[in-house]
This record gives sequence, C-alpha cells and structure tokens, in this order.
Amino acid sequence: TQPLRLGIAGLGTVGRGVIRIVQDHAALIEKRTGRAIEIAAVSARTRDKDRGVSIEAYEWEDDPVALARREDVDIFVELMGGSEGSAKAAVEAAIAHGKDVVTANKAMLALHGQSLAEAAETAGCVIRFEAAVAGGIPVVKALTEGLAGNAVTRVMGVMNGTCNYILTRMEGAGLTYDAVFAEAEALGYLEADPALDVGGIDAAHKLALLTSIAYGTRVDFDAVALEGIERISIADIEQAADMGYRIKLLGVAQRTGRGLEVRMSPCLVPASSPLGQLEGPTNMVVLEGDSVGQIVMRGAGAGEGPTASAVMGDVLDIARGTRVSTFGQPAASLAEPQAATVTTP
Ligand code: NAP
Ligand code: HSE
Repeated sequence: TQPLRLGIAGLGTVGRGVIRIVQDHAALIEKRTGRAIEIAAVSARTRDKDRGVSIEAYEWEDDPVALARREDVDIFVELMGGSEGSAKAAVEAAIAHGKDVVTANKAMLALHGQSLAEAAETAGCVIRFEAAVAGGIPVVKALTEGLAGNAVTRVMGVMNGTCNYILTRMEGAGLTYDAVFAEAEALGYLEADPALDVGGIDAAHKLALLTSIAYGTRVDFDAVALEGIERISIADIEQAADMGYRIKLLGVAQRTGRGLEVRMSPCLVPASSPLGQLEGPTNMVVLEGDSVGQIVMRGAGAGEGPTASAVMGDVLDIARGTRVSTFGQPAASLAEPQAATVTTP
C-alpha cells in the first residue's frame, strides 16, 4: 500500500503537535492503519523559524493554496486558523483538486462549514474536524459513531477553557475579572483576538458545529443566542456560591416545543455537579440521547498535544479508508431561547 501523504498548512501550536505525532509514532500508526503516513510538504508564514520540531525533510511551500494543489498531497491538513482568507482559500483549493481535508478551524467551519462540506461531497472528498470542537475530547466521533443509534435530546457543555480558567480563578483567588484576564493573557491562553474567548464567540462556534452534527441540521451562526463573560463580577460569583451554584459559560442545544434552541451564555450550575466542579482551562461536554441517557466527557480542550491528537484521529480514520464527512444538511430555524431551564448533571 502506498503511504498516505499529508500537506500541513500551519506550523504553530497544533501543526507542531501533528508533526511530533507523525514523527514519534510512525510505527504505531502503520500498525494501526496498515498504511504509513508521511508528510510530503508544509507551509507557514515564515520559513526560517525554530519550531521545536524538524521540518527539514519536508518540501516547503510559501503559499498554502499551492500546497493544497500539490500532486504528492493526499490529505490537506489546515492548521492556520481564521474564518476567511488563506485558510478558506486553501481548503477550497484542496477540495477542487480532489484532496481530503482535516482541519481544526472552528471559526471557518462555523461560518462556511456547510458550503465546504457540500463542495467536498460533490468532489468526492472527505472533510473532517474533530479538533475543532473541545480539542482532545473525541466528541464528534462520539456523536457520529458511538451514539449514532440515538436521537440526541440535548448537547451541553463548557467549550472554552480560557473562560473556565477566568471564572474559576476569579472565584478561587477572589480576583477581579480584569486581574484574571491579564493573567490569562500572560499565560498565553487568549486567542489573538481575546473577544473570541471572553465574548463567547469561540465557544459558540464549537456549539454550532456540535449542534449541526447532533441534530443533522445546518445552524445559522448568527441565530445562536450569545453572551460572553465580560460583565461577570466577583460579586456575581460570590452570590452564586452562597446559594450553592457556580457560574459557567455554558452552551446548550436542545429541542423545545418551539424548535431547536441554541445558546451560549453564563449560567448557574450546581456547585456539586460535574460541570460545577470543572476547574481551570478545561472543557466538559455533556451529551444526552434517547437510548443512552447522559454521557459526560471531560478533558483538555486546547494545547499542542490534545489538539494534535484529535487531528491525527481524523487522519488515521482516512488512512483506514473512511469516506464519511460529518455535517447536517437542511437549515433549521432556531427558536428564540427562553429563560434558562437547564438541569445539569
Ligand atoms: P498558531 O499557533 O497561531 O499557528 C498558526 C500557524 O499558521 C503558524 O505556523 C502561522 O505561520 C501559520 N499561518 C497563519 N496564517 C498563514 C498564512 N496566511 N499562510 C501560511 N501560514 C499561515 O495557531 P494554532 O493555535 O496552532 O491554531 C491553529 C488552528 O487550530 C486554528 O484554527 C485554531 O482555532 C485551531 N485550534 C487551536 C487549538 C489550540 O489549542 N491552539 C485548539 C483547537 C483548535 P508562522 O508560524 O510562520 O507565523
Ligand atoms: N481559546 C480556546 C479555548 C482554544 O480557550 O478553549 C481552544 O479552542
């Protein structure tokens, strides 16, 4: 069998992690899939940069679109980020040239995932994105494979580790939002545009993706009810704690009598519940299905290793021969969310 050849665009946190796994686990990967996985070529903005992994053995492309078109690339791995611009252009080019695509780019997928999925289907390509939702937690696989026999009744969770760090640190250390925001910035937790984190947008991107998979429908991102954590004060947190609750930036997608309700907003959850006990920059996703009941998945939603682990899960699935992309089809009109009536685990 011919090796499966990757073209990796983006050599930052996640790209570096993917290269590390390919280099460190070559034998394991071949044993598990029956096929060797090789990196044919890579691309980033700057060629001469110490990235902590060796890329000398790989061909270099300045332009990610040129990388996406290369004949020696079977899977285009998009790890640049950004909802528009180079990432989208390169993914479109990859599909137009018959390449499968693996991406971690939740912003691009939440806004353009449906049209990219349709283009991939027309071209006979696969597009997969486990890493785009909750980093290392294999929640897309859980929904599309393990729970495929269920009608999903609710998807819920904490999907932005930075916001969870800020909220739990404010409570634990009694610090103001501004003080903890500065800490998060110093620790490198914040996105280049911090509004994506604290405004709830990044988490809402992930929730929109999970909702489309869980309910087999397209979610218009602008219809997701969205509120961030910027206005949460230490007084709010203390008052919640006095009543036995904690404040979490919680995403909820559920069917109601009025239709599908999707919202990402600060919610009160019982302090003794698994969601209430979630500390630091961590994610927790709660899935409910009509047969399985409730499942709780917890883990690292970001970082080099966890996110690269999810990217490689998709790559290995393609190496094993899967031809399944994961997206719903018809657009759903979302119900106006009502006051929160969420029963948390
Ligand atoms: P990052 O560290 O900022 O790395 C981005 C990489 O893309 C860099 O290597 C950069 O090149 C390259 N790049 C950016 N624009 C480019 C362009 N126009 N042409 C060529 N190369 C370009 O980002 P990251 O944290 O690895 O994130 C990558 C993707 O994974 C994003 O979509 C992000 O949302 C997603 N994601 C990240 C995490 C995480 O924990 N980091 C978790 C889940 C999902 P230079 O290095 O030369 O500047
Ligand atoms: N900024 C994101 C978070 C990174 O804090 O969860 C992972 O998507």
